[in-house]
Amino acid sequence: MAAMYNKIVILTGAGISAESGIKTFRDADGLWENEPVEAVATPEGFERDPERVIAFYDERRAGLKKAEPNAAHHALVKLEEKFGDNFLLITQNVDDLHQRAGSKRIIPMHGELLKIRCLGPQEHIIPCAENQPKECPECGAKMRPHIVWFGEIPFEMERIQKALTKCDLFAYIGTSGVVYPAAGFRQMAKLSGAHVVCLNLEEVGGGYTDEFIQGKAGEVVPKWVALRVNPVNRGSPSTPQHSSPLSQKQRLF
Ligand code: APR
Repeated sequence: MAAMYNKIVILTGAGISAESGIKTFRDADGLWENEPVEAVATPEGFERDPERVIAFYDERRAGLKKAEPNAAHHALVKLEEKFGDNFLLITQNVDDLHQRAGSKRIIPMHGELLKIRCLGPQEHIIPCAENQPKECPECGAKMRPHIVWFGEIPFEMERIQKALTKCDLFAYIGTSGVVYPAAGFRQMAKLSGAHVVCLNLEEVGGGYTDEFIQGKAGEVVPKWVALRVNPVNRGSPSTPQHSSPLSQKQRLF
């Protein structure tokens, strides 16, 4: 029997895109292999050598073109379709695979590879599919990748925190759970009363997790989502019913 939930928050990390051919960060052959993190993923690194940083992200953009969303990305779209405004997807990934699969209620908290931002006062954000221009087409200011680097604050933290304290199911998928603030989300959700699930190749996360589902995201996520979308309720009266209509007041995301 699958328990039922009303408000779902999902956090994804690099592992969900691994089967699409995007390298994870902390594997032996990971993204940072030939580039020290400080050189390509800090504001200081950009200040020191912008050309190197721009070349690094241009290379990532080229790699992204060859990738396609996998079964896990598609499954999360089904979950969103079922739960509507009571669903929120937070991703640490800067690829656009969730969006290409069709996810709409999504917060790319670490930014987006296919956008760039100018350093002018208006911080123009423009799309960038390849070869980042150095100057803003709007105001001429210097441009940088629209990526949250180490030492910077992720996007939409207030909205994220609100959702984490209101959800009754929180799942973190394909993330090693070591980079804050995302690494603290399971604790925030758990302490607010949510059921916390980890789906990953290996057991990560330590405490504040009720359930661990081991396997490749492309295999375990669709099965797990199917249970949420079509739960077999054999009648535990204490389990919340997501089939009952939610009032406007309960819509929190
Ligand atoms: N299915 C499920 N999980 C997988 C798969 C897969 N096919 N392949 C790898 N994993 C797991 C790994 O076991 C690991 O726990 O995905 C996790 C990936 O962890 P990281 O590489 O650390 O990626 P992530 O947690 O997203 O990193 C967080 O760190 O460097 C920064 O800003 C960067 O957003 C990134 C953040």
